Amino acid sequence: MNVLLLGSGGREHALAWKLAQSPSLTKLYAAPGNPGIAQSAELVALDITDHAAVLAFCKDKRIGLVVIGPEAPLVAGLGNSLRAAGIPAFGPDKDAAQLEGSKGFTKDLCARENIPTAGYKRFTDKQAALSGLKAFGLPVVIKADGLAAGKGVIIAETSADADAAIEDMFDGSFGDAGAEIVIEEFLTGEEASFFALTDGEAVIPFGSAQDHKRVGDGDTGPNTGGMGAYSPAAILTPELEAQAMAEIVIPTVRAMKAAGMPYSGVLYAGLMLTAQGPKLIEYNARFGDPECQVLMMRFDGDLLALLLAVAEGRLAELGAVTLADRAALTVVMAAKGYPGTPEKGGAIAGIDAAEAAGARVFHAGTRLDGDMLVANGGRVLNVTGSGADVAEAQAIAYRGVDAIEFPTGFCRRDIGWQELRRRRND
Ligand code: AMP
Ligand code: GLY
Repeated sequence: MNVLLLGSGGREHALAWKLAQSPSLTKLYAAPGNPGIAQSAELVALDITDHAAVLAFCKDKRIGLVVIGPEAPLVAGLGNSLRAAGIPAFGPDKDAAQLEGSKGFTKDLCARENIPTAGYKRFTDKQAALSGLKAFGLPVVIKADGLAAGKGVIIAETSADADAAIEDMFDGSFGDAGAEIVIEEFLTGEEASFFALTDGEAVIPFGSAQDHKRVGDGDTGPNTGGMGAYSPAAILTPELEAQAMAEIVIPTVRAMKAAGMPYSGVLYAGLMLTAQGPKLIEYNARFGDPECQVLMMRFDGDLLALLLAVAEGRLAELGAVTLADRAALTVVMAAKGYPGTPEKGGAIAGIDAAEAAGARVFHAGTRLDGDMLVANGGRVLNVTGSGADVAEAQAIAYRGVDAIEFPTGFCRRDIGWQELRRRRND
C-alpha cells in the first residue's frame, strides 16, 4: 500500500521511520517532510492547506492511507475532505479535533460527563473575565481557547499577572485563539502524557510518556513545545492508567460518539496526577512531539497495519497492542534563542557518529544547504536512546548528543530527572 504522511517535525520522522518498516508498505510519500524523513520517504511539495491538491495527489499515487501528523490540518478538516473522497485517514474529523482545537469545548464535555479536570469558566468578554477571575484562588491558569502552538497558557502567581494575561489575550497576543479564554483552577501534582488509539468505538491504551516543557535544566525558564521525553512514565502505574482510561478517555470517546462527532485517531491526554487521582489538563488530537519519538522506539509491531485499522474502524479486530518493556528517552537539541527567535542556518555534523554510539537521531527542524545539514527551526534534532531502563536510555541518548557538533544549538542535560530521582529513592 502507498501511504502519505503529512508534517515535517521529529514526530513525523519517527512515524516515517516506523512506517518504513511495515511489511505492507509499498511506497511512503511525505509532505512537506524534512531531510531525516527523506531517508524513509519520497518528499513531495504539497501545500497541505490545499485540500483539493492533497486529494488529487492521493488519487494520482493511489494512496491507501494518509497519516496526519500535526494538529492544524486536523482542525482545518483535512480528515473530513479525505474521508469524503473515500481515502482512509489517520486523524480525527474537524468536529472531533475540537478536543484539541477548543479548550472550552473540552472543559464543557468534561463537566457534562463528570470527567475529572480543573474547575473552570469560559469568557468571551474581557471585563467579564476580569471580574470572573475573583472567584479563583492563586495561582490561577489563563488559557486562550484556540490553537496557540503550545504557548497559549499562562500560570499567574498574582492577580496583577492574571489581569495582565487576560488583557493580553483579549488584546490579540494569541490572535483569534484568544478571542475566547478559559480561566482554570491550578492543579498540583506530577504530569504524565497518556496515549490511546480509538476508531470511535474501540479504545486501546498506547503507552505513556513524560515530557519536559520548560526550556532549562531543573524545569526552569519559559515553556516550549517539549525539550525531551521518556517512556514509559512509571509514575502512571497500571492502576492509574486503568483509572485514566475508565474515568477520562473512555467516557470522552463515548460522549463524542453520542454527540455525533466520533473521534478517530490517537487521543493524547495530558494528565495531572493529583492526590485525588488523574485529572485531565488537556487533550491533543495527535501524537505528542517529542513523545511520539519515544513511543515509536518501543513499538515493535506493524505501524501501518495499526494506523489503517484505526482509520478503517477495525481496531477491535486487533485486540490489545503492546509496547516493548524497554525504556526510551529523547533529548531535543534546539537552536539558541528557542523558544523565542531561534538562530537559523547553524551547521550540524556528527549524526552518523551519534548513531554509531547507539543513539537514533530524528530530524525536527533541519534542512539541507547544498550538502550541509543546517538548523531550520526551534527544535532541530531529537537524539534518542533505548535501553533496559530510563537510566540506560538516557546514557545512550546523551552519548549521541555528545557526538553531535551543533555549535549554535543547545539542549537540556537532565531529561528523565524525575524518573531517575524516583529510582534513587526506591
Ligand atoms: P496545556 O497547553 O493545556 O497542556 O498547558 C501547558 C502546561 O501548563 C501544562 O503542561 C501544565 O504544566 C500547565 N497547566 C495547564 N493547565 C494547568 C492547570 N489547570 N493546573 C496546573 N498546571 C496547568
Ligand atoms: N510535547 C507536547 C505536545 O506535543 O503537545
